[in-house]
Amino acid sequence: MTWCRLLLICSAVSWAKAAVLAEPTDSASDQIIFQYHQYPELREVLVGVWLQCPSISRIYTVGKSTENRELLVIELTDNPGKHEPGEPEFKYVGNMHGNEAVGRELLVFLAQYLCNEYQKGNETIVRLIHSTRIHIMPSMNPDGFEKAFSQVDDPNDWFIGRTNAQGIDLNRNFPDLDRIVYIYEHEGGPNNHLLRNIKLSVDRNSKLAPETKAIIHWIMDIPFVLSANLHGGDVVANYPYDETRTGSSHEYSACPDDKIFKSLAEAYASLNPVMSNPNRQPCRKNDDDRSFIDGTTNGGAWYSVPGGMQDFNYLSSNCFEVTLELSCTKFPPPDSLAQYWEENRDSLLNYIQQVHRGVKGFVRDYHQKPIANATISVEGINHDVTSAKDGDYWRLLAPGNYKITASASGYLAITKKVAIPPSPAVVLDFNLESFSERKEEEKAEIMQWWKMMSETLNF
Ligand SMILES: *[C@@H]1O[C@H](CO)[C@@H](O)[C@H](O)[C@H]1NC(C)=O
Ligand SMILES: *[C@@H]1O[C@H](CO)[C@@H](O)[C@H](O)[C@H]1NC(C)=O
Ligand SMILES: [Zn+2]
Repeated sequence: MTWCRLLLICSAVSWAKAAVLAEPTDSASDQIIFQYHQYPELREVLVGVWLQCPSISRIYTVGKSTENRELLVIELTDNPGKHEPGEPEFKYVGNMHGNEAVGRELLVFLAQYLCNEYQKGNETIVRLIHSTRIHIMPSMNPDGFEKAFSQVDDPNDWFIGRTNAQGIDLNRNFPDLDRIVYIYEHEGGPNNHLLRNIKLSVDRNSKLAPETKAIIHWIMDIPFVLSANLHGGDVVANYPYDETRTGSSHEYSACPDDKIFKSLAEAYASLNPVMSNPNRQPCRKNDDDRSFIDGTTNGGAWYSVPGGMQDFNYLSSNCFEVTLELSCTKFPPPDSLAQYWEENRDSLLNYIQQVHRGVKGFVRDYHQKPIANATISVEGINHDVTSAKDGDYWRLLAPGNYKITASASGYLAITKKVAIPPSPAVVLDFNLESFSERKEEEKAEIMQWWKMMSETLNF
């Protein structure tokens, strides 16, 4: 059976199935138990969601950690397992730093909540699941988590389990594309998909951790539109760029999409009463929170992070990612998890909804054939996105009036004007004429003219 492809998960399936059969009542299955999940329990709880909601969920792995734990993802959508043309893809990644544990658990609760509410017929959730492909990875660093979990009472626990099992900080381990785009800003060069332009064999590069490699492939393989990466140690929604242009340690580092990124960060922060509280005291007395505005901050303005995952998403793919810091304490006691869930639930859902903003549509040729890898550019914003396999594209944009151009090699570019409301996304399709078709047309026009001329002049 296909669901038994993952040997590791199969063993958990029989266990979880037995548990479900023993509890035939509905109410038991829609309980969310607010606790930490070590690796075997994490597998079990995800399989539990899948067994409860098999028609809208699927579990898969993007690869293995250093110590051979699976980097598990639960996908929630109406047709799991495939990209549906026109349907945007979203991801949440938790626990990149293994000792930052709140995000990991909130993502488990989120998967359970989505499944429960879908089954109850909650219209908001049903609509969300039918219109979005949501990927949830509770832990990007399962090895670090196990280490942190086993030493959580250690007084020096601020860093225990932060890195992967090789001692690599995964949020400093991504190819540093900021440095490249900052050079291109001066000297000219592409403004997106920058991995194409550097000679880097992801698989053979010994500096990249196995977790990093797996995530890079994941980002490249799926046409993600929006993402967030969950951390702890502070309470703020952080947006690109994370790395400063000059190398200074604090400096506002706007990316070309600064406006929409601010709005995306606000979409999260504004619904979290702690994050958005203007009178919130810094987590620690000496913390420098001067860059925080309404619970959001530009990454570089707070502190410069080279080799981070957030900027890598933006510069290597079409995916816009923010970094969410969810708790002052990185590994708080389990009895505080319910409270964190309450504070973050609406934010987590509202942030997913942001994927349905801006402009979207299809790029096709004159015979309605999809054009993949077409470039979608926005006048005044030096960051293009590209169309996916089916010619579908999504371009997140803040409200306003824009000129959007679709172009592809071998075709004549088309520019259209569009007014974009706060939401939902405006549909804007492009039908591009190929150069060869244009030449045929021109040839036909000349022939027609010749024919007319000959007839008139009685050749
Ligand atoms: C449906 O889900 C939304 C989003 O979480 C929530 O705000 C709303 O209260 C839910 N509706 C019901 C009837 O529970
Ligand atoms: C996509 O188009 C760009 C140019 O716009 C090109 O450099 C790149 O190789 C193309 N990628 C694929 C997969 O065709
Ligand atoms: Zn972190």
